[in-house]
Amino acid sequence: MEVSVLIPAAGKGERLGLGPKAFLRVGGRTLLEWTLAAFLEAAEVLVALPPGASPPRGLRATFLEGGETRQESVARLLEAASLPLVLVHDVARPFVSRALVERVAKAARAQGAAVPVLPVPDTLIRPEGEAYGAALPREALRLVQTPQGFFTALLREAHAYARKQGLSATDDAQLVQALGYPVALVEGERTAFKVTYPEDLFLAEALARVWNG
Ligand code: C5P
Repeated sequence: MEVSVLIPAAGKGERLGLGPKAFLRVGGRTLLEWTLAAFLEAAEVLVALPPGASPPRGLRATFLEGGETRQESVARLLEAASLPLVLVHDVARPFVSRALVERVAKAARAQGAAVPVLPVPDTLIRPEGEAYGAALPREALRLVQTPQGFFTALLREAHAYARKQGLSATDDAQLVQALGYPVALVEGERTAFKVTYPEDLFLAEALARVWNG
């Protein structure tokens, strides 16, 4: 697949409290190994690791030092990307299927920017202090996942614009949208959930037993 895959994996894993997620083991493999398995067909894979971390051996990827924030880590990876299409994927989502990767890549190749989304199953509210507050219309809202696909030149422009304007964002699509460029939506998948809290590891262990991507 003619894409550069950019994997920001330089987080410290503070909410989980078990060190950088890239090196966390689930079902006998690190989250980085699970993640890379989804991108075996990619022409180029670049990974940002926490400063000072030793790059793991035997993995088909190029390792760089990440930055202070996710956005900075992606910006560094982007500088090193050599192909016209990039897929940005968080190492914190190790169970991403090849089908999802292909779906995002296809939409991004056609439209320049594409992200996977899911409907919101829970009731959502904006609390008033400690009390129940107004409900948000969940049918109108979506959960945003990765991988997110972009024309490399477009994402570079979006990051440069964000730097100039002092914008910060938790994903790349927000920066592209801030430029005024439309971002297409494709169907996400629930197994590509983000390993964030300790109890997510139970789910990850269970999934590791049956996962074949
Ligand atoms: O903590 P957060 O949800 O923002 O992390 C999302 C992804 O960004 C994770 O895969 C994490 O490793 C990565 N990250 C990074 N560089 C940072 C902070 C987070 O690559 N400085």
